[in-house]
Amino acid sequence: MPQKQRTVTLIDNETGKQVELPVHVGTHGHPAIDVRSLNKALGYYTYDPGYMSTASCSSAITYIDGKKGILRYRGYPIEQLAEKSNYLEVCYLLLYGELPTPDEFETFEKSIKEHSMLHEAMRGFFGGFRHDAHPMATMVGVVGALSAFYPDSSSVHNREQRLLAAHRLIAKMPTIAAWSYKYSTGFRFIYPRNHLDYTENFLRMMFAVPTEEYEPDPLFTKALDLILILHADHEQNASTSTVRLTGSSEANPFAAISAGIASLWGPAHGGANEAAIRMLQEITESGDLQKYVDRAKDKNDRFRLMGFGHRIYKSYDPRAAIIRKTCHELLDKIDSRNTPLFETALRLEDIVAKDDYFIERNLYPNVDYYSGIILSAMGIPLSMFTVIFALARTVGWMSHWNEMWEDPESRIGRPRQLYIGEKKRDYVPPEERGA
Ligand code: SDX
Repeated sequence: MPQKQRTVTLIDNETGKQVELPVHVGTHGHPAIDVRSLNKALGYYTYDPGYMSTASCSSAITYIDGKKGILRYRGYPIEQLAEKSNYLEVCYLLLYGELPTPDEFETFEKSIKEHSMLHEAMRGFFGGFRHDAHPMATMVGVVGALSAFYPDSSSVHNREQRLLAAHRLIAKMPTIAAWSYKYSTGFRFIYPRNHLDYTENFLRMMFAVPTEEYEPDPLFTKALDLILILHADHEQNASTSTVRLTGSSEANPFAAISAGIASLWGPAHGGANEAAIRMLQEITESGDLQKYVDRAKDKNDRFRLMGFGHRIYKSYDPRAAIIRKTCHELLDKIDSRNTPLFETALRLEDIVAKDDYFIERNLYPNVDYYSGIILSAMGIPLSMFTVIFALARTVGWMSHWNEMWEDPESRIGRPRQLYIGEKKRDYVPPEERGA
């Protein structure tokens, strides 16, 4: 017996006209009212700045429950993936929808290793930037430029080409990220080595020098791999929505990912991990934590507590809980040169947790609050924090981009607006203006 289609009825109190709208019910989460017929039936648009109540698409990739602090990739709880999986296996899961068999993983890992090099002509692009350019600027430029080198993986209507583009981007992001860093230091670029696993390879390209071998510290490799897992995807966040909207015009995948990197750069989004550390450094140096808490509550002050709050998590960000625990473990095992910073982070979190202003607004630490402490404990420079977020999120972006092209309902994204500008008026000759 087919389930009866759920509907809602919208009545225009002005005209008495009404329309019955279908309701779509997903596996979990809020049902969605299908408003596609609204404009034709009643002549209205929906109005939702920031898309607080808007589902832009249907997706099977990631599920978030902001109230319960739930995050699942393809149904698997983030806590289990963080404990039992590794980043490259999570890449396979997000992209293909299932955990790989050992053979499937071996084939996937071989493909990623084979695509980790850049075309030699791309080396020159790095030299076009000032040496002190922010590595995110380099990433936006160089990733976009990949579209000039790989026309054989740019056709959005060809699944094989789409997946080849995904493999190329997952494989090349560590090389581009590490070279962006090396360029800023003036050191020689280090090439990937296929005998290393994905995260070890990235750390070696970041820190090895031609004069001596570099063995990645297993502790750091494990901590970084965890950070990559936790940042791999997060539903329709700003940068993923940017990738979907950019890609919906049939722009090639490299251009779409470059747009996603640009969106992630903002301190309200992926740039928050860098901003959170800068804030914690400033608070630690000032010795006056309460001053910053008061500023964050002051409506006349634009200052906000970086690493706190989330559009969806109105309880604890499950990723922050996992990273906080790893922070403790890692700092206990190394010479804990970041202890003052970590102490400040713990004290600030404790004060905020007891302050009604933040409790009423559901402001808790998010994924960016502690990740920076681990990265700085590993000697990764501040300017590389968001680059690492972009590296991790590339698989999420590509999984959503590919899902969009496999969704028959997908079409070019073109939101409308509520026009509040001038009514029709006639041109005024220059000599009559300002009268
Ligand atoms: C990421 O979307 C994702 O999934 C993103 C992400 C991912 O994995 O892709 O999870 C990654 O971007 C995490 C968020 C990183 N950003 C930051 O840490 C920057 C600081 N956080 C804020 O900018 C803010 O909390 C946002 C942007 C994260 C969320 O903003 P919202 O949901 O639009 O909330 P809001 O601006 O409407 O704030 C609601 C209230 C306001 O006060 P009132 O006007 O109600 O009195 O809370 C206040 C805000 O002033 N508020 C804060 C605050 N965040 C919100 N006050 C102080 N400090 C903060 N951090």
